[in-house]
Amino acid sequence: MNHLVSPSLLAADFGNLANDVKLINKSVADWIHCDIMDGVFVPNISFGFPVIADVKKIARKPLDVHLMIVDPDRYLARWKETGADILTVQYEACTHLHRTVTEIRNLGMKAGVAVNPHTPVSLLKNILPYIDLVLIMTVNPGFGGQSFIMESYNKIAELRKMIDNGRNKVLIQVDGGVDTKNARRLVETGVNVLVAGNTIFSSKDPLGTIRKLKKLG
Ligand code: DX5
Ligand code: ZN
Repeated sequence: MNHLVSPSLLAADFGNLANDVKLINKSVADWIHCDIMDGVFVPNISFGFPVIADVKKIARKPLDVHLMIVDPDRYLARWKETGADILTVQYEACTHLHRTVTEIRNLGMKAGVAVNPHTPVSLLKNILPYIDLVLIMTVNPGFGGQSFIMESYNKIAELRKMIDNGRNKVLIQVDGGVDTKNARRLVETGVNVLVAGNTIFSSKDPLGTIRKLKKLG
């Protein structure tokens, strides 16, 4: 399949958020990545329900919501009401992951599981049949603009093999330090969805940068 691009709103201009959502609407991007941080699971706080509800009113692409919060089970139904289409929880924040992802699917959303850089993808073997997406964190979660962790290529390749061998229908997403230089190698290693924040919104031509990430050059 052709890979997807999911621009991260964390790097958008919060004073003119609507402008950046409209920019994504008219771009060749596929999803809109929304990073939810609670100041506990990660050492940063981003935005929450009211902001994403307003984004949903103008968004013309699916909302790809990445929860970097403790105890995500408390809020799954609220994220559905708020407009999440894909809901990703952190592996490290879930004691009963199977229950959590089953609930996400029962609510009518696609279920994703994110793994921090230190979490081996082999731990996902038994959850793959129950999810739609694995998000490999390619930086430590919490902030945009950090550098890509090179060991991530091995994790992507290992997960690609696990998914293909098990004939699972699971997308591989990468998040953190993705740019127009590493995008091609990431896709060639097996990535299906590229998240990118600073690369897009700090560039002079965000629409052109999204196009480069989509066309790989
Ligand atoms: C980091 C977030 C990322 C972030 C990526 O904790 O999960 O989605 O927005 O930002 P860049 O692309 O700037 O590394
Ligand atoms: Zn993210």
